[in-house]
Amino acid sequence: MLNAIPYFQQHLEHDLGRVNIVVNRAVQSDVALISQIGTYIISAGGKRLRPILTILAGKCLNYDDDKLYSLAAMVEFIHTSTLLHDDVVDESELRRGRKTANHLFGNAAAVLVGDFLYTRAFQLMVGSGSLKILEVMAEATNIIAEGEVMQLMNIGNIDISEQEYLTVIQYKTAKLFEAAAQVGAILAGANAEQEQALKDFGMHMGTAFQIIDDVLDYSGSVEQIGKNVGDDLAEGKPTLPLIYLMHHGNEQAAKDVKTALQNADREYFEKIHQHVSQSDALDYCVIQAQKAVDRAIICLDKLPENEVTQAMRQMAIHSIKRVA
Ligand code: IPE
Ligand code: IPE
Ligand code: MG
Ligand code: MG
Repeated sequence: MLNAIPYFQQHLEHDLGRVNIVVNRAVQSDVALISQIGTYIISAGGKRLRPILTILAGKCLNYDDDKLYSLAAMVEFIHTSTLLHDDVVDESELRRGRKTANHLFGNAAAVLVGDFLYTRAFQLMVGSGSLKILEVMAEATNIIAEGEVMQLMNIGNIDISEQEYLTVIQYKTAKLFEAAAQVGAILAGANAEQEQALKDFGMHMGTAFQIIDDVLDYSGSVEQIGKNVGDDLAEGKPTLPLIYLMHHGNEQAAKDVKTALQNADREYFEKIHQHVSQSDALDYCVIQAQKAVDRAIICLDKLPENEVTQAMRQMAIHSIKRVA
């Protein structure tokens, strides 16, 4: 669908090709297992949303230098390392339509190669020579870790509020979208207002994106998302569809969701899936995601109107109409 947008049609393949050159080089190591696992997860694809965001943020302000591609690759490395770690934590078996690295190579190898990609990302940042970019990414990665731990502390928490859920997803997911856009802004020498607008655009889009990711854990198919559905419930993760049911669902639905969250077992999936489907929980989530997209799009008013900001508008809209 993104291919229907002129900018994406004409430039994106080329841009991502340049990002991939850096990625493929930076994933290499003399330690064979690192290159093997790194290449395994990176070659499985992924949507490359975060590096695209860095590129568009830089290009909407007319920046186009090699640094943009190397820092877009850096952002994808941070993302990939969080996925390697996340799949260990979540005990997930499928990612990007393939067996997860932890499932195939074991937890230890997945965690350690995640560390390699994470630290390689910092080497790429140092290569940019920008202390501000280092500062932004140091904060972002720190917040992501806090988000993941906050989420861990909320496993099985039936009293979590919608606001607490939003904080968790802003920390664990949207913060990297924010940083990805900010890096492009910094490289382009954005003024303070433009930099803030690009940051906010990333934050709102990332929030919308994670809400929909949580919806797809109930409504998607394995083919569609390249991951197993029902993982969130199996972990006892109180995501927005379930928070909605606990607060606004009928008495039986609220009771069953609480039992499922407190027992964290896949055997509850069918019942909870039924409650979710028979209620307006997912409609509610989509409306919340749409509101976040609207907030993202408004940020673009502070930026020059050109084909790149046009592409960013389309990207935000597309982020909630997702098929893997
Ligand atoms: C997965 O992100 C982790 C979440 C924040 C939901 P993506 O869905 O962007 O993962 P890839 O890179 O496309 O596989
Ligand atoms: C993604 O979180 C990992 C991070 C954002 C660090 P999730 O656990 O919700 O995402 P998936 O469903 O595994 O991709
Ligand atoms: Mg997780
Ligand atoms: Mg996960």
